[in-house]
Amino acid sequence: MSLLFFKRALANPIRVGYLVPSSGFLTRQTAKRIDFSKPRVVIELGPGEGCHTRQIVRRMNAESKLILIELDEHFAAHLEKQFAEDPRVTVIHANALELLPTLERLGISNPDYIVSGIPFTIMGRELREQLLSSISQAMGPESIFITYQVSHLIAEHELFDLARSRQCLLNVPPIKVMELRKSAASMAI
Ligand SMILES: C[S@@+](CC[C@H](N)C(=O)[O-])C[C@H]1O[C@@H](n2cnc3c(N)ncnc32)[C@H](O)[C@@H]1O
Repeated sequence: MSLLFFKRALANPIRVGYLVPSSGFLTRQTAKRIDFSKPRVVIELGPGEGCHTRQIVRRMNAESKLILIELDEHFAAHLEKQFAEDPRVTVIHANALELLPTLERLGISNPDYIVSGIPFTIMGRELREQLLSSISQAMGPESIFITYQVSHLIAEHELFDLARSRQCLLNVPPIKVMELRKSAASMAI
């Protein structure tokens, strides 16, 4: 178990959401949904200590880019050290609420994938709506938002259309992995 994760979860229970990082079963299931048959731009929101990141990095090709956006300064510092030698990975200590301006600064639009386990379903409604709106605004028609959550709440959100969903029981807690596209209604916003 990651001691860093446990400590950060105790310091910020709502923001981190769980006491342990995602299981290997879940991280493999998430990463294999990303098609690396060509160069991709992948954004990970709330990578924590990097368990999904390591699976993604293992699969990604030399021309792909992975941008990690993490709000917790201790996790961000840990990720900086962990991926310092990998030029494909950029770590940004920032709030996912700032996703659009952050991507604009990096010259990125319409990322291929946004991956996130930020615990949207545990936090307050207002913050959840703001975060989901930032994500939707950063997506293009081809972008895929992969999120792992304890409930299906996001799959029913008007900003997104559910493309695929699968349950991962071998995780604490059991979790739903969803692939979402920007909904037709949100394209007009
Ligand atoms: C449930 S943990 C997931 C961590 C890791 N991805 C995993 O699966 O073990 C949620 C992560 O999202 C981060 N987080 C929460 N709110 C955030 C926000 N608004 N912007 C960026 N990161 C955020 C937390 O600091 C934490 O690292």
